[in-house]
Amino acid sequence: MDHPNTIEAEKLVREFKKGPRAVDGIDLHVDAGEIYGFLGPNGAGKSTTVLMLTTLLPPTAGTARVGGYDVVHEGPQVRSRIGAALQEAALDGLMTGREHLRLQAALQALPRNERAARADELLERVGLTEAADRKVRGYSGGMKRRLDLAMALVHRPRILFLDEPTTGLDVQSRTALWSEVGRLAREDGVTVFLTTQYLEEADVLADRVGIIDHGHIVAEGTPDALKAEIGRPTVEATASGPDGRAELTEVLERFGTLVPSSRGVAVRLDAGEAGLADVVRALDAKGCSVANLELHQPSLDDVFLAKTGRSLEGHGGDASEPE
Ligand SMILES: Nc1ncnc2c1ncn2[C@@H]1O[C@H](COP(=O)(O)OP(=O)(O)OP(=O)(O)O)[C@@H](O)[C@H]1O
Ligand SMILES: [Mg+2]
Repeated sequence: MDHPNTIEAEKLVREFKKGPRAVDGIDLHVDAGEIYGFLGPNGAGKSTTVLMLTTLLPPTAGTARVGGYDVVHEGPQVRSRIGAALQEAALDGLMTGREHLRLQAALQALPRNERAARADELLERVGLTEAADRKVRGYSGGMKRRLDLAMALVHRPRILFLDEPTTGLDVQSRTALWSEVGRLAREDGVTVFLTTQYLEEADVLADRVGIIDHGHIVAEGTPDALKAEIGRPTVEATASGPDGRAELTEVLERFGTLVPSSRGVAVRLDAGEAGLADVVRALDAKGCSVANLELHQPSLDDVFLAKTGRSLEGHGGDASEPE
């Protein structure tokens, strides 16, 4: 095929005049039908990358091809093949969901006699049929994100860009969106480039993950491969009393490297899982009173921590605490 549904970038850079080098020379290759999760904290360069790949912002340097077309020199061809739900959703509060979709169908030049049916089909698919004739200003955040996704799909794009599609959504809306995105990739073969601050989202949904920090890709691979690279699990202990923390730290740090923990004290075990029994014995010998002891297999947060020295969790990156 001459124009595969891939995304390629080479040494892509975007520098803002009075700002930082938001994207600092990244290489990307996303295969057709793949879900690529672009994970990173606030200000990492995720949206800037998406804006360049969707032709909305010219790169300062480097090249990118989307659907086989150059984002700078073949903008119209790129735009005809992609759908995008950007971080700043452009919805009109005074229009209904159905009106948005019909307008989008007209803007995308769908034949007049197909527009209404396409709108109905998409409303159904994202679960907005019942709310279709309500004005968007009365929609919840999750409903707006779903309408946004439906609008991005109107012209049956082969490549889909989603910029933080689930930020701020409750667990139920998030899961519903995940299953729809998964279906698009698995059943329709749509290539999906999705940015997220949620580790769990990248882990569950993405075939491959790129971790971006300060405009650089610091790690890339399947979630399993990235986690396997870290290898050793962590053990996390919570003291039952208010002053048990120092004591726990003293014992645990003998068994590996301390890592950030929101609840108690955590250490990456030098000896791996096998070290757990020794930890328990040492805690016992020291007379520590432990309220909770957990063994965690490596997570994508451990990967992030290992690559950047910082934790994504607790910075809006924890899926259990949406901002
Ligand atoms: N138009 C602009 N002018 C100047 N600086 C900008 C502009 N847009 C983005 N930046 C800066 O570029 C960096 C990357 O921003 P970007 O929006 O790409 O981050 P992000 O990873 O999408 O973050 P978030 O998770 O908060 O959406 C930030 O430091 C930001 O302040
Ligand atoms: Mg962003």
